[in-house]
Amino acid sequence: MIIKEIKENIYAIITNDWDRRLFDELIPLPEGTSYNSYFLKDEKNVIIDSSDPRTKDKLFKAIEQLKIEKIDFIISNHSEQDHSGTIPDILEKFKQAKVITSEKGKEFLKSLLLIPEDRIISVKDGEKINIGQKTLQFIYAPFVHWPETILTYEIKNKILFPCDLFGSHLATSKIWATENDFLKGAKRYYAEIMMPFRNQIKKHLEKLKNYQVEIIAPSHGPVYDKPEVIIDAYNQWVSDNVKNCVVILYVSMHGSIKKAVDYFVKALIEKDIEVKPFNLTETDIGELAISLVDSATVIIGTPTVIGGPHPYVLSATYLFKILKPKTKFVSIIGSFLWGTNMLKYFEEILKGENLEIIEPVIFKGFPTKEIFEKLETLAEKIYQKHKELNLI
Ligand code: FEO
Repeated sequence: MIIKEIKENIYAIITNDWDRRLFDELIPLPEGTSYNSYFLKDEKNVIIDSSDPRTKDKLFKAIEQLKIEKIDFIISNHSEQDHSGTIPDILEKFKQAKVITSEKGKEFLKSLLLIPEDRIISVKDGEKINIGQKTLQFIYAPFVHWPETILTYEIKNKILFPCDLFGSHLATSKIWATENDFLKGAKRYYAEIMMPFRNQIKKHLEKLKNYQVEIIAPSHGPVYDKPEVIIDAYNQWVSDNVKNCVVILYVSMHGSIKKAVDYFVKALIEKDIEVKPFNLTETDIGELAISLVDSATVIIGTPTVIGGPHPYVLSATYLFKILKPKTKFVSIIGSFLWGTNMLKYFEEILKGENLEIIEPVIFKGFPTKEIFEKLETLAEKIYQKHKELNLI
């Protein structure tokens, strides 16, 4: 646990969860995570966000070390339990404390944590509260990444407390982000959590232009004292720009798909196209998600299993759909022996998405010279598509 005074009477309380390796029972955390709370000491004492119950003891140790004897308000920017899960314990200890959140947040906190209605104050978009020397303003920012989310802006010191937005799943002994060591973690976080809400985030970034921000203090990972670096990165990630890159997600059971993928990778490299192949039996899906942020094309490679795609590939394709990357083109490399319905599955999953499907290469058994020629043709089509977008 780290306690750091980031500005006069404003303390970051970073409770690291070094050992956590999975979030939402889905997302790998290769570097753990942290749950950050912020304590604002003033005429009214405020805690912004609490912590996951996993680090409750660390948060209460910090409360002890900071000699906090009174809390007036707990601001819940986001109701997900990694930030709200310890609020009931704080309310239990500090009987006069009230929770401040959005209208939707109030509904969620009552429902998820059974917090009594009379302990919750809901605020409107843009509403301010004065806590003494400091004034806090609440900015509605729905869907980063739940519908109830708000950002809290401390006007005097120009600090933005955005909870998940701009966060990183990173347990760290360093409180301040530096340009060199945080962007990959921040991009992973964006890819896994924020990417499905790219269009909403674009609007929020526009709204934030109305605020002078000198520090961004999220509730996961390090704190930014150069906000422009992470804001510029977000502007790039949420933009419609894609790169001359092909992501290949695949499984090979007996080597046919592997042979085809290896050949195809070589064909793309020869055309100066960046390639990122992911063998789904081994890959960290967070790495896959990062690659999806700005790649122009995705190729799905699968053998046939009981008439359809390999279940890992089906799962990854569904993940691709719900992450909503800005991918422009998709194709499929598939194998079978006595029959396949794999394309029906992909058509079903990908229907309605704004994607151009390039003719798949589906083959029987091991790839032959004719199949390699088809893979060459597929590589050439992708090259032409990327060229039309001025990516090459
Ligand atoms: Fe870090 Fe959406 O919770």
